[in-house]
Amino acid sequence: MPDSIIGQPLDRIDGKAKVTGRARYAADVPASMPPAHGVLVTSTIGRGEITRIEADDAERSPGILLIMSHENVPAQAPFKPSGLGGSRHARAKPQFNGTRVHYYGEPVALVVAETFEQATAAARLVRVSYRTESGSYDLAEGRRLAYPPEHIVVGKTDSRIGDVDRALASSAAKVDATYTTPYQSHNPMELVASLAEWSGDKLTVHCATQLVNSAHRSIASTLRLPLEKVEVVSEYIGGGFGGKLPIYGDAILAAIAAKQLNRPVKIVLTRQQMFSVTTHRAATIQRIRLAAGEDGKLSAVAHEAWTQSARMDEFAEGVAASTRAMYAAPNRLTTHRVVPLDLPVSDSMRAPGDAVGQLALEQAMDELAEKLDLDPIELRLRNEPDRDPETHVPFSTRALVPCLTQGAEQFGWNRRSKIPGRLKDSHWLVGLGMAAAIRPNYRQPAHARVRMDANKHVTVEMDMTDIGTGSYTILAQVAADTLQVPVEAVSVNLGHSTYPETPGSGGSFGAASCTSALYDVCVALKKKIDAGESPGNLQAEGQSEPGSEYENFSQYSYGAHFAEVAVDSVTGEIRLRRMLGIFDAGRILNAKTARSQLIGGMLWGVSSALHENAVVDVRSGAFVNHDLAGYHVPVHADVPTAVDAVMLAGFDDKSSPLGSKGVGELGICGAGAAIANAVYNACGVRVRDYPITPDKILGGLMQQNVAQQR
Ligand code: MOS
Repeated sequence: MPDSIIGQPLDRIDGKAKVTGRARYAADVPASMPPAHGVLVTSTIGRGEITRIEADDAERSPGILLIMSHENVPAQAPFKPSGLGGSRHARAKPQFNGTRVHYYGEPVALVVAETFEQATAAARLVRVSYRTESGSYDLAEGRRLAYPPEHIVVGKTDSRIGDVDRALASSAAKVDATYTTPYQSHNPMELVASLAEWSGDKLTVHCATQLVNSAHRSIASTLRLPLEKVEVVSEYIGGGFGGKLPIYGDAILAAIAAKQLNRPVKIVLTRQQMFSVTTHRAATIQRIRLAAGEDGKLSAVAHEAWTQSARMDEFAEGVAASTRAMYAAPNRLTTHRVVPLDLPVSDSMRAPGDAVGQLALEQAMDELAEKLDLDPIELRLRNEPDRDPETHVPFSTRALVPCLTQGAEQFGWNRRSKIPGRLKDSHWLVGLGMAAAIRPNYRQPAHARVRMDANKHVTVEMDMTDIGTGSYTILAQVAADTLQVPVEAVSVNLGHSTYPETPGSGGSFGAASCTSALYDVCVALKKKIDAGESPGNLQAEGQSEPGSEYENFSQYSYGAHFAEVAVDSVTGEIRLRRMLGIFDAGRILNAKTARSQLIGGMLWGVSSALHENAVVDVRSGAFVNHDLAGYHVPVHADVPTAVDAVMLAGFDDKSSPLGSKGVGELGICGAGAAIANAVYNACGVRVRDYPITPDKILGGLMQQNVAQQR
C-alpha cells in the first residue's frame, strides 16, 4: 500500500505536548481547588493481624486533615479473589479490609494533610502494632504447596501429547535442565497516582491506568456507585507495562477521602511503595526437557513451570503457553503450577509468561544445539512446524524462518565460533548468541466514535489509552487514511470513561483491536460522506470484534534476536556490544513507534538477562531492594548504539482488517536468552539462574581454571 499514511514513521502526534509539559499526567492535573495530599502507611510484617493503630502523634502534627484505617474506613463492596476471570481488573478493590495483613508493604492506613510533606511526616508517626504469624515467602521451599491453577493467563493449565519420558529415554541427544527467573517490578517512570474530586454526587478520578473501562468498573463497584456517577480519566500515562492494568488503593482511598473532606485529594505512591502496593512479575522455576535424534529433529519438548502466586489472590503466569506453538515434536508436555506465598500480588508484566518462558526454552535449545554439534539456527530451522503442533490448526502467518535467516545474514552470524571462549579482544572474551521469539496475537472487541465537522476536521473518541506506545498516533493515521484527510486534520481523544469502550492497553491487543474498530467506523462515516450527507452533523459510532479466525488459526507474532557480548575474563563483567532483532508482526502501523516498542522490549530482555532481581527477604517477605538504586535496570552506559530492530513486511488478514499484529510485548520475548547464549559462547559458562551477574560468571570461570589445571 504505497500511498497509505498507515505504516509511515510519523512522529508521535502527542510528542510536542509531552516535551513541552502540556500533557497532563494523573498527578499533574489541576483540580478545582488545591487538593489535599494523601500518603499511604504500609505494613511492616508479611503475615498476621493488625492489633492496634496509634495515631495520636500523627493527629497532632501540622496540616493534618484525616487519618484512615480499617477502624474508620466506610463500608465498601467485598473483595473476591478472581482467579483469572475476564473481569479481574474490574473487580471491587476494598481498602483497609479488616485486620489481616496479607503481605509486607500492604496499605494499612492513609494520612491526608494540606501538603505532601506534612502527610509524609505524619504518616511516619502512625504506629501500627501487629501479631506476626509465620508466613511462606520462599518459592523453592514453597514448591511443596504447589497446585494446578484452573487456568493460566490465556489457555489451559497443562497439555500432554504422546510420551515425553519414552522419547527422552531413546533419544540421541537430550537436555534436562532447570532454569530460574527472579521477581521483577515494572516500575515505570510515572508513579501510580490518583486525583479524586467530587461534584455533588458525581466522582471524577484522574488516575494512571492502562484500562479505563476496567478502572471505571472497579472504582464504581468498590464504592457501590452507579457507573454513570463515576468518571475515570487517564489521558497520558508515563509507562504501564502491565503495572497499571489494575487500579490500586490510591484510586479508592482518594475518592473516599475527597468525599469526607469535601475537597479534591491526590495520592501518589512513593517509588518504594511501587514495589509492594502494585503488582510484580512472579519468580519462576522451570524444568525444560528436550530430546532429539541425530538428524536434529526434536522428538520431545517438555516445559514445566512453577510460579509464585499471592496467597490472597491467585495469578497463574502462562510460562509454557507459547512453547505449545513453537517447535514441531511428536511428544509434548507443558504444565503450570502455582505456589501460594504470603507475598504481594503478582500479575502481568510485559509479555507475561512468554518473557520468562523463553528465557528458559531458548537457552535450552542452545544447549541442545551444542550437544547435537549443530548450529542453533539450523536446529530451529529443522524443527519448524507446518501447522500449530498442539491445536493442529494452520498458522495465520508465520515468518520465523525469514526472521532467522535474514538476521543471521545481517548480523554476521558466520563470525561466531562454534567453540566457546575462542574469540578474544585483550582480556575480553567475545561471544555471539541468538534466540527465537514468539508471542500470541490477541484481538478484543472495541468501540469508536468519529465526527467530521464542516471544516473537514475529524475527531476520534475512544476510551483507549496511550501508555507511551503510540496509540494516539496510529489511530490518527488510520482515521486520516480511511477518511482521506491529512493527519493534521485528525484529533484523537482518548482515556475518558465517557468515550466508547475499548479493551485499553494490554496484552499487545490495543493496536489491532482499536484500529479495527476505528477503521470500521471510519468506513461507515465515509459512506455517509459519499452519500452526500452534509458535514456539520457527520458522525458514526460502532464496534468491531474478532470472528472465528481466532479459533481456526494459530496467531502469533515472531522474531529472532542476535546479540554480541563481551565478558571480562578477570572480573566477570558482561558488556553488550551489539544486538539485532528481526520481527514478523504483520503489517506495521507506524514504523517509528513500532521500532521503538521493539527496541524497548529487546533492552528489557537485556535487563532480565543481566540486571533485574527484586530480592525477597525470606524471613519477612519484604522486597529488600525496593528502589531504583538497588533494583538494577540497564542505563544508557549499559546499552551500545548498535541495537536495531527490523520489521519484515507482512499482512495478517486473520488478525485484523488492517493486517497488523501486536508488537508491544514481542521484543522482550527471547531477547534475554540471546544474551545468555552469547555469554556462554563468549566464556563457556552456562548460567541458568537469572540474572547472569558477574559473581556467577566468575564462579564458572574459576571452575574452568580448576578443571584445566587437573
Ligand atoms: Mo500488558 S503486561 O498486558 O500491559
